[in-house]
This record gives sequence, structure tokens and C-alpha cells, in this order.
Amino acid sequence: MSIIDGRAVAKKIRGDVKSKIAGLGFQPGLAVILIGDNWESKLYIEQKEIACKEVGIQFFLHEFVSSVEINEVISLIQKLNADRKVQGILVQLPISVSLDLIKIQEAIDPWKDVDGFNPINRGLLFSMAKKASLETMIPCTPAGVMRLLEEYEVDVNGKNVVVIGRSNIIGKPLSYLLLQKGATVTICHSQTKDLKFHTQNADILVCAAGQEALVTAEMVKKGAVVIDVALNRVTDQSKKGYHIVGDTDFEKVKSKASLITPVPGGVGPMTVAMLLQNILKASLIK
Ligand code: GUN
Repeated sequence: MSIIDGRAVAKKIRGDVKSKIAGLGFQPGLAVILIGDNWESKLYIEQKEIACKEVGIQFFLHEFVSSVEINEVISLIQKLNADRKVQGILVQLPISVSLDLIKIQEAIDPWKDVDGFNPINRGLLFSMAKKASLETMIPCTPAGVMRLLEEYEVDVNGKNVVVIGRSNIIGKPLSYLLLQKGATVTICHSQTKDLKFHTQNADILVCAAGQEALVTAEMVKKGAVVIDVALNRVTDQSKKGYHIVGDTDFEKVKSKASLITPVPGGVGPMTVAMLLQNILKASLIK
């Protein structure tokens, strides 16, 4: 069994992005919109700010209280769409309030949509097409998973891949990317009747359900590649008061798997690295 080192791969990508940004001749900017108060979103934003500064991207944070009206958010996005200092725009998820996310994501200029969540970019991804002559923006976490598989020379062609989770951010786009590479993809979710029936047949198992200890060793085929995308907060006696775990019972599952991502230190750093890559991509658009 080997443990996938997402931090090392992400570091390599950040170094590559940094040198390409230095050659751009201008400093790109990322605008991040935070709506309401959510611990997970704040954690992601902290990591994104550190990474942007490290590679030479300006970071602009725009915060809204949870009582904000959707029109205020859309009006900010319209300003950012026209702002030449801003090459990338994203709304950090999850948001703790009920707003029409599709309307918000639709307002972001598809060329500045570094999350790949605008319906145009989603449509291009699902139809496996390109935008003009450029690659479309691929959502960061799915892109990070694909890059990790590539780095560790895991060929997905013809493999049985089970993805647990059908979110718009991870499960659905990742399933399409895997399908594009020739995998046979099964998407499982909260309504799946017998999860083990599916997982035990997976050559590659992707866990993105957000449920601590959901995947036990008995559910994993010997020699499988296990990619744990989830972030679950578990309270403990530490100074911080919690620690982060994924969806797998890591210690037991790792003895069955041939390759496995830890949480933290697996997919998480890759999400941020792929965001930087998307900002670079957006910065190259004239
Ligand atoms: N929350 C978890 N992953 C993501 C992501 O890739 N983009 C945004 N905006 N929010 C997220």
C-alpha cells in the first residue's frame, strides 16, 4: 500500500504556476465572495488566500452577511466581470443561506469562472467540448483528483470506478471526467440501496459523501485505489477542539488499498493548486 502525497503534487503545480505567472507581465487577481458564516468555507478561503499570495496572484475577498439579497451579490459580480484587475471570480461554497446558486453562478463571466460552475462551462464539460479554441474550466476538485491519478500512473481506461456522492461540485463533474477517460462509472448516493454491493467491485473508489467512517475495509476490494475527497470535522480534546477526517475508516482501509489518499493532505491541497491553474488559464485569455 502507498499513500498518495497530495501536498507534494500540489507544491509542484504551485511552483509551475508561479513561474508562468511571473512571465505574464501583469499580476492576475482572484475575487472570492463569501456569503454568511460557514467554517468549511472560511477554511477553504484561508488556504486559497495563502496559495494566491505565494504564486503572485492578488486576492480580493468580498464578504456578505447571510441576510444579503441575491441582487446585491449579482451586482457585485457584474462589477467584478468588468474589473480588469480581476481574472478569476468564485463564490465560496457551501453557503449558509438559501439563495439561488444557479442564478449567481450564471452571472459570473464564463471566461472568469475559475470554478467551472457557470452553466455554460458545466455544459461544455458534460458535452466534452471546448470553449473557442481553449480548454474549458474544469471544476477544481475533480481536476485535482484526475491529476493525482495521472501523477500516480493510475490508468482509468476500462476500470470499474465507483463515485460515492452526486454533488454538482464533485460527484457529477468527476464522473464525467472519468467517463471521458474510458472508465465504467457508477455513481452512488444517499438513496443507493446496497452501497457495499457496488464498492466491493470498484477498482477505483472515490468517496465524496461527507459522512465520517462511511467506507469500511469490508467494502473495499483488495488492491483498489481509494480517493477520499471528503472533509468531516470531528470534535476532540485538542486545543483547536476538532480534527478533520474523510469518509473512509483510513487505518483499516489502507491495508486493503494499493493506493490511498489521506485526509488531510490528499485531495485538499490539489483543489487549491488546480484553482491556481484555472486562474492562470483565465489570465491567458485576451
Ligand atoms: N467548496 C468546496 N469545493 C469548492 C470549490 O471547488 N469551489 C468553491 N467555490 N467552493 C467549494
